[in-house]
Amino acid sequence: MKEELQRLRAEAEQALAQISRADELEPFRVEYLGRKGRFTSLMRGLGQAPADQRPELGKLANEIKGRLEQAFDLRQEQLSGAEVEVVKFPDLSLPGRRHPAGADHPVTRVMTEVCAIFVGMGFAVVEGPDVETDFYNFEALNIPPHHPARAMHDTFYVGEGRLLRTHTSPMQIRAMEQARPPLRMIAPGKAYRCDSDITHTPMFHQVEGFLVDRKVTFADLKGVLSAFISRMFDGKTPIRFRPSFFPFTEPSAEVDIGCVICETKGCRVCKQTGWLEILGAGMIDPEVFAKVDYDPEQYSGFAFGLGIERVAMLRYGINDIRLFYENDLRFLRQF
Ligand code: DAH
Repeated sequence: MKEELQRLRAEAEQALAQISRADELEPFRVEYLGRKGRFTSLMRGLGQAPADQRPELGKLANEIKGRLEQAFDLRQEQLSGAEVEVVKFPDLSLPGRRHPAGADHPVTRVMTEVCAIFVGMGFAVVEGPDVETDFYNFEALNIPPHHPARAMHDTFYVGEGRLLRTHTSPMQIRAMEQARPPLRMIAPGKAYRCDSDITHTPMFHQVEGFLVDRKVTFADLKGVLSAFISRMFDGKTPIRFRPSFFPFTEPSAEVDIGCVICETKGCRVCKQTGWLEILGAGMIDPEVFAKVDYDPEQYSGFAFGLGIERVAMLRYGINDIRLFYENDLRFLRQF
């Protein structure tokens, strides 16, 4: 019995000395010192020893166990100490580590600027859902089913009569349903079309604007948009209004600015025309007023829709719209 105790002790001490990682401690404790461990089962056998030897054996066993427990605690302390040591006290004399400063995305910047200019002219900002119904996106804007204008929209349908809005124009309807004239509003937000090339991304940003009151004329539209363009670009940029068609405005126009790259001399960007289209606009069609119960005899208004990526591209001389959405820091850091 005595020898057995000493053997177990030697074996345990050797095993303990070989432990080099904190996660090896627990299996050791279970094997040797646990309630079902080897030491406990040996001590149970003590009952079989001759009665006169029992006190001495008991004392020895307790001593060995005590010492092993102490050695175990010490090892545990050493190993946890090793882990703590990795965390060195910081050198307070070192210069601080700088975190790279983030910055607004160029699209966000232009969006903020556009909104600020219109807010400065007294327009209120409203926002609405990206997932729209056919009614708001098309029907109420005088684009009935099978109207050929739908073909220009490359709509993403999401089921149950819902779609991703193809423009921000549905906000005209939502706003007019909820308020009575006079109103002056802009609706910035995302729009979606199933289209992708150097001038189109499936998601892009627009700012819709509209003003409704008594006696609003096309001259008011020209005045507001001219003021906007002269603030957005340098005050000297020439603009022109070109007749166009949109189902929800009559008459309609597309607005061009003198090419910012060649200053109207003609280049690749403006396809040698000297002009760049930047927005669509027009006088709100009486059919649209009818959908929201406005009396077209009493009220008139204008509306416009501006593509933000388009403005950002002109502003910063970017020739591929997809660069905005590739998250390449080498591109983004330039702004
Ligand atoms: N919704 C049109 C588009 O996305 C842009 C537009 C044109 C908006 C004329 C208007 C407008 O409010 O009057 O292509």
